[in-house]
Amino acid sequence: MESNYYIGIMSGTSLDGVDAVLVDFNSSDPKLIQTQFCPYDSELRKQLLALQQSGYDELHRAAMLGKRLSCLYAETVIKLLANTTVKSEHVSAIGCHGQTVRHCPDVEKGYTIQLVNAALLAELTQIAVVSDFRSRDMAAGGQGAPLVPAFHHALFKSALCHRVIVNIGGIANITSLDPNNTIVGFDCGPGNILLDAWCLHHTGEIYDNNGQWAAKGKVISSLLEDMLNDHFFSRQPPKSTGRELFNLEWLKHKLAGKELPEDVQATLLQLTVMAIARSIHEYCPTAAEIYVCGGGAHNTQLINRLIEAIPGKKIMRTDQLGVAIDWVEAFAFAWLAQQTLLRKTGNLSAVTGAKGERILGAIYPA
Ligand SMILES: Nc1ncnc2c1ncn2[C@@H]1O[C@H](COP(=O)(O)OP(=O)(O)OP(=O)(O)O)[C@@H](O)[C@H]1O
Ligand SMILES: [Mg+2]
Repeated sequence: MESNYYIGIMSGTSLDGVDAVLVDFNSSDPKLIQTQFCPYDSELRKQLLALQQSGYDELHRAAMLGKRLSCLYAETVIKLLANTTVKSEHVSAIGCHGQTVRHCPDVEKGYTIQLVNAALLAELTQIAVVSDFRSRDMAAGGQGAPLVPAFHHALFKSALCHRVIVNIGGIANITSLDPNNTIVGFDCGPGNILLDAWCLHHTGEIYDNNGQWAAKGKVISSLLEDMLNDHFFSRQPPKSTGRELFNLEWLKHKLAGKELPEDVQATLLQLTVMAIARSIHEYCPTAAEIYVCGGGAHNTQLINRLIEAIPGKKIMRTDQLGVAIDWVEAFAFAWLAQQTLLRKTGNLSAVTGAKGERILGAIYPA
């Protein structure tokens, strides 16, 4: 049987690094052939963080970082393929999300910017690249995010069971796959973004391994309530968010200043939990099965609190649907690249709020 290979590359808001997957879409049941992760070093993370706000010579810095990232993406692709028998000429395309430095869906004529020099990535790999997936949805009036729900539907739906997919990346997002209703999907709020930022600020570690530090603290209920009062949480979908809203400044505005750092960490963990749990209660009350994915699904403290916050629902990992928790997002961008090359739509207007379904992305031929 002929193979139909695509590569998906995701580097998300957590700024942890590059996830890449090789997928064979030949059968009706796409197969994950190989995976590769390349971490960002602290210097690259620092430079990317600095570009989240405007600053001196930002156009130059953005262009240079786009090139640097594309070299890292290409290295990741080469390592990925080196562990397989698949040659670059057999890969139809790379779907590359790029690194978000601005996501402003709600300003007049919204915009979103992902750094990647797709031409350079195509040149270095000699593989066609599809990138800039979000802009077309925004041009059609949508949020440009989340884009993964169409993929979750294609891969994880059940004809009998109401499933919910919860991705806990930098931002947490959910997709409700109710066989009897339209698909619902939106960003719930922070996933790991504030947990990582507070942890780095106080401990120097880039994340709180398994929530062990958070487990030493106590949830400050007044702080939790104050945070949950942010307008974002009560807004109706379609909605999406990023570092523009959920950042250390947002947190610091809510602190009295005398809180114990570990209590703040425990409270931030509970914020992520409550943002997800409330979204499920409100928008997916009939859900029977909840599947978690993304790096936050490794955080045992977080998952244990989530189990407590959603009693009566079965919480599993996407591994049980055939894709391990770390690779769902990259898999989605391989799928989205295939949609683009097949001239099929990739967004769901019911999710993003766009005027209609659109073929997403820009193609840079091999
Ligand atoms: N063992 C662990 N304990 C706690 N947190 C973890 C653990 N492993 C991973 N993480 C968290 O997961 C994050 C990475 O998750 P992931 O790659 O899914 O997010 P992302 O890059 O923001 O992706 P996206 O925005 O596309 O969802 C890390 O920054 C860290 O916060
Ligand atoms: Mg990541």
